[in-house]
Amino acid sequence: MRKNKNIINLVSNIYLSPSNFIYPLFIVEGKNRKEEINSMPGVYRFSIDCLLGEIDACLDVGINSFMLFGVEDRKDELGSWAYRDDGIVPSAIKKLRDVYKDDVTLFADVCLCQYTVSGHCGLISNGVIDNNKTLEILNKISIVYASAGVDFVCPSSMMDYQVKSIRKALDDNGFHMVGIMSYSTKFNSSFYGPFRDAALSRPQFGDRSSYQLDYRNPSLAILESLKDVEEGADIIMVKPALAYLDIISKIKERIFVPLAAYNVSGEYSMIINSGLDLEKVTMEVLYSIKRAGADIIISYFAKDLFLKMKGF
Ligand code: PBG
Repeated sequence: MRKNKNIINLVSNIYLSPSNFIYPLFIVEGKNRKEEINSMPGVYRFSIDCLLGEIDACLDVGINSFMLFGVEDRKDELGSWAYRDDGIVPSAIKKLRDVYKDDVTLFADVCLCQYTVSGHCGLISNGVIDNNKTLEILNKISIVYASAGVDFVCPSSMMDYQVKSIRKALDDNGFHMVGIMSYSTKFNSSFYGPFRDAALSRPQFGDRSSYQLDYRNPSLAILESLKDVEEGADIIMVKPALAYLDIISKIKERIFVPLAAYNVSGEYSMIINSGLDLEKVTMEVLYSIKRAGADIIISYFAKDLFLKMKGF
């Protein structure tokens, strides 16, 4: 069965296609800014004017889905720059929708950690995360993104009932066509380190263990995705990917809505700095995520991978 390439290819049945990838983009205020992120060589923060070139390069290789992250230094207690309609992400959504119409599918992360003084994903009352107050803010952010023209809002703060709450808020405001890709099974992970540098979202005290999942209980991790489907999630997600291939595969067997896996910042940095054959190791890793059962992969590798595959 392994006598030559043709036979090997004949019996292969897992594929990577750019149409199944979502490419993350970090967006900053201002003009003419394209700044490389120290801990993530090859990944940049863009001002909106510079973002267009990056999107054109992705469209050229067949990637047309993007996940937008705002990098905001105007932080306050309520994270109010997350839900101002002149904030970074709503402005970017409007611009991209205007320029690319339906040729791009836009996903936007809905969370507070980039916008709050505490750097936590929820509001703080008396020193602890206030789940239900946070839901109100997540609703506001989602409506602002929806009005700007986003296709999917992506709640990532791991508050209980965030999907239910956002679905209702969207429907009540006439946004029935805006979908929810939920960060449903999101672990409390050290692999997010480089992202927190990139997005200025490091918690200023404590950690995220009171809302993100502990990796020692796979059943609870799966249950979180099941609950999000009941609450109305259109796409669910496992994050990170590499240390959680078992969870991806179990969820894929039990849940039938499309499943995304987030190949996160620390997985990217680890490989980029590994000294290994980058092209080959990237393929091997992304195929493993696909093989585990992910329908969609969110990855910082996506653009370069398909550039190389296209032979640029
Ligand atoms: C926001 C958010 C994080 C990531 C995506 N959305 C950081 C976190 O939860 O601390 C991490 C993505 C990555 O590491 O690439 N909550």
